[in-house]
Amino acid sequence: MKIFVDTAMIDEIKEAESWGILDGVTTNPSLIKKAVDKLEGVSLEDYIQDILRTTDGPVSLEVAGSTYGDMVSEAKILYKKFNPINDNVVIKIPVNTCMKDGDDNFEGIKAVKTLSETGIPVNCTLVMSSNQALMAAKAGAAYVSPFLGRIDDHIRKNMGLTGGKDYPKGNHYPEELAERAREYKLVELMEGKDVGSMIYRDHDIMNIFDWGNDAGIYSGVDLIWSIKQIYDSYSFETQIIAASIRTARQVRLCAEMGVDIATIPFNVIEDMIIHYKTSEGMKAFCEDVVPEYMNILKL
Ligand code: G3P
Repeated sequence: MKIFVDTAMIDEIKEAESWGILDGVTTNPSLIKKAVDKLEGVSLEDYIQDILRTTDGPVSLEVAGSTYGDMVSEAKILYKKFNPINDNVVIKIPVNTCMKDGDDNFEGIKAVKTLSETGIPVNCTLVMSSNQALMAAKAGAAYVSPFLGRIDDHIRKNMGLTGGKDYPKGNHYPEELAERAREYKLVELMEGKDVGSMIYRDHDIMNIFDWGNDAGIYSGVDLIWSIKQIYDSYSFETQIIAASIRTARQVRLCAEMGVDIATIPFNVIEDMIIHYKTSEGMKAFCEDVVPEYMNILKL
């Protein structure tokens, strides 16, 4: 599985690159905003060029517009301005640019088609359903980014697990329990520090998973699995980037199912390397080093 870092912070990108584990970078307007807040004495344009030179892997840059015309024109500007730096720019286009219910437009998918046809690689983003991923692949997207963490947020909220509050980002969503719920069994949900104990009736459970024009998805990781089944069945070349990842466990589940790419926040990449048993072992080894051994290690 390729590992992209989901950040626009140059220090994080350089650090991940220095570990030899980095295959690419994804940004979005929110991540660029965080980086801009810390920019000192350097233009954003130079800063983006620095990101592009740091890795040879694909770097996704997102358009800002929401109409077909704006997105296509911004994508061409971004590609022309930045791709010559290291030949690694990918343009992120939202699959659908509606901002509220009833505000139907199909500008995103149309822009994916046009840009892909002109040879600009597109990362089709904000994908929340398997059908959107199918449409993105049909329209020619090089990459598709399903937001698994936000799907977990959505399902947890609808299950009443959050008590109206946002679920902590690093808290793993118990998809095994949700899977049991999908089988329409009475489920006693996990008793835990921020979940609580709840019992749902069959009809409530059915409603929970019947959302977003795509009934039957029971977790963010399940969404990734569903898209992978579809892409494998029809040999689509579009690569899946598991996105909106919040935990190392989600990365492991994606790796186990053979997902092409995971784009991971830097703190989660750190979590993938840390293990308290490793630290415990390290401490014991250090304490056991004898002077005779230290002498051998000297030049
Ligand atoms: O790759 C998409 C990502 O940046 C969104 O993550 O945690 O804001 O849902 P998140």
